[in-house]
Amino acid sequence: MKDNELIRLAMEVRNKAYAPYSNFLVGAALLSEDGNVYTGCNIENASFTPTICAERTAIFKAISEGKYKFDKIAIVGSPKGELTQFAYPCGVCRQVMMEFVNPKKFQILVAKNENEFQTYSLEELLPNGFGPHNINNS
Ligand code: THU
Repeated sequence: MKDNELIRLAMEVRNKAYAPYSNFLVGAALLSEDGNVYTGCNIENASFTPTICAERTAIFKAISEGKYKFDKIAIVGSPKGELTQFAYPCGVCRQVMMEFVNPKKFQILVAKNENEFQTYSLEELLPNGFGPHNINNS
């Protein structure tokens, strides 16, 4: 799948975001190694802390369907309305990515639209990340 197609899917699912408290709408589209796409939006809660980010919604959807290997994720986020900014994944989402991907290879596309986007590896956004390799060292 082309990067601009993955970004388009992130833009589409952003319209489903449930964010009545922040009015900050985020969409993410996660590409698994076998070519499937798992989309996610942020889902807020009146009690605030149960809120989940778009990236984790997408990742947890994939995991719950038995997919554990991922190539890249496209992320779009802005206040309600047009996309006006690059929204980088929060620290919690970076840590969740660290659990399932090779940080040197996994690509994070932070997009404003299908043509304007930046590409990072997880290692760039989470240097010296703590992950399963620290524990599963047998
Ligand atoms: N949010 C995401 O969905 N992803 C991020 O990486 C940053 C923040 C959401 C959470 C909350 O619903 C809203 O954006 C404002 O923080």
